[in-house]
Amino acid sequence: MKKIYAVLVLAGLANVAAAADVVGDPKAAPAKIEMCVGCHAIPGYKATFPEVFQVPMIGGQSAKYIENALKAYQKGERKHPSMKGIAVSLSDQDIADIAAYYSQQSKTAQK
Ligand code: HEC
Repeated sequence: MKKIYAVLVLAGLANVAAAADVVGDPKAAPAKIEMCVGCHAIPGYKATFPEVFQVPMIGGQSAKYIENALKAYQKGERKHPSMKGIAVSLSDQDIADIAAYYSQQSKTAQK
């Protein structure tokens, strides 16, 4: 178990090296992504509020990509009402944990 964790940590470090102080912990993510799963875990799912949107798959994206996207919603650079509402409720640590978690999911497993 320790070995697996070390590998995960190394893989995570490579991904979040650019993210300065906040180091994402994928093990802290499950409780934080409960609300994401409702939209993002379903292949081909479309959110219907406030309009019909195709919900992008985020599993398997790089941690940096997910982090940048969430921060862009927070700052209003990316405009999507539901994602903005969600992003502003997340701390930097939440975002790092979530990004680390999703970047470890394989793309093929989700498709
Ligand atoms: C109400 C449904 C809904 C929920 C809940 C939700 N999302 Fe999203 N998310 C979307 C939609 C729709 C988009 C596409 C928005 C757009 O076009 O900008 C999106 C986009 C994203 C993107 C950008 C993906 C890309 O490829 O550009 C990320 C990252 C993301 N969501 C992460 C999360 C995380 C993390 C959570 C939970 C904390 C979450 N979302 C919860 C509907 C949702």
